[in-house]
Amino acid sequence: MPSFKIALLKGDGIGPEIVESAVKVLQKVGKLFGYDFILEEGLIGGIAIDKTGEPLPQETLELCLSSDAVLLGAVGGPKWDDLPTHKRPERGLLGIRKALDLYANLRPAKVYKPLVPSSPLKDHVVMGTDFIVVRELTGDVYYGEPRGIFKEGERRVGINTMRYTEDEIRRVVKKAFEIARGRRKKLTSVDKSNVLEVSALWREIVEEESKSYPDVQVEHLYVDNCAMQMIRRPSSFDVIVTGNIFGDILSDEAAVITGSLGMLPSASLGERYALYEPVHGSAPDIAGKGVANPIATILSASMMLRYSFNLKEASDAIDRAVELALERGYRTPDIYAEGTKKVGTQEMTEVIISLL
Ligand code: NAI
Ligand code: MG
Repeated sequence: MPSFKIALLKGDGIGPEIVESAVKVLQKVGKLFGYDFILEEGLIGGIAIDKTGEPLPQETLELCLSSDAVLLGAVGGPKWDDLPTHKRPERGLLGIRKALDLYANLRPAKVYKPLVPSSPLKDHVVMGTDFIVVRELTGDVYYGEPRGIFKEGERRVGINTMRYTEDEIRRVVKKAFEIARGRRKKLTSVDKSNVLEVSALWREIVEEESKSYPDVQVEHLYVDNCAMQMIRRPSSFDVIVTGNIFGDILSDEAAVITGSLGMLPSASLGERYALYEPVHGSAPDIAGKGVANPIATILSASMMLRYSFNLKEASDAIDRAVELALERGYRTPDIYAEGTKKVGTQEMTEVIISLL
């Protein structure tokens, strides 16, 4: 039986509840399809600080490095808000992303038919929306040197540098082409090449790489235009690939189109390692109440099967079960609407498992 080792980092707030849900789904999928998922838990975030003094203990890091993939809940909460920046729970997340050299962040924006009315966009505009934003994670203006606030004579000047090497661009662009190839075969590359040299290089590399993917249709958009088209014709996108800062903004715009934070999964991929986690945080306001929406985490586990283990059928089965649960009217409170059945975390999980 094929076996896969998964590091489970539950973290804080609703983290333990939603990761537990995803684990139950994985176990059922393992039984149905004949896979052995070996699950091992590690501490991260606030709970790790409480137990070890560190947001990312060495033991957790080693667990992740020796696993095939990492599934994370969420970190943080008011209890740790007064700690200095370098000791906060979020440091654990930054540390792990860096240690695993994760350079591509995948954020799907899929609007499930029964949830179309939750979108802030008009029903006919948002219907059928199903795209994925691939954001480069390790370069760009967030890391380029020189950076800082300097004195220029009497006045201060703030400087950040947009910088990408061609290798950094190429690896994320290749990843995006591969993903597009496994979907509807359309890639939108987003840049600002009318004013930025970094973007001109980005565009050149997309063109070069497109020769290896003749089956994928390529479109180039300026980022400002893309921001508009995303709300004007969201259903026309399949895969969007872009740099770190444009991707930061566009992926949040994409999230809001779907209208439901509790439904959004994500993946961060490197060459060797990968981390899967819901887009939302630790939701301390509802932690321990049994009402958190587990779907974002369950769909993150589904992405893990697809992108880390190449188990496309099993991943499709999970996505379909989630869709069916929604079609049958089951809703956690965050996505509840009149005329649907309000359920808690556990019941939603059981319904999804029964529909697999
Ligand atoms: P949040 O995403 O935790 O919550 C925002 C709102 O959405 C809250 O009302 C919450 O109850 C609701 N919500 C979130 N996930 C939900 C789910 N699965 N089901 C139902 N409702 C859900 O963001 P917030 O409140 O800004 O941050 C809370 C804590 O989480 C902070 O400590 C923050 O630093 C941390 N955080 C952690 C992230 C991570 O671990 N990747 C990401 C974002 C925030
Ligand atoms: Mg952001």
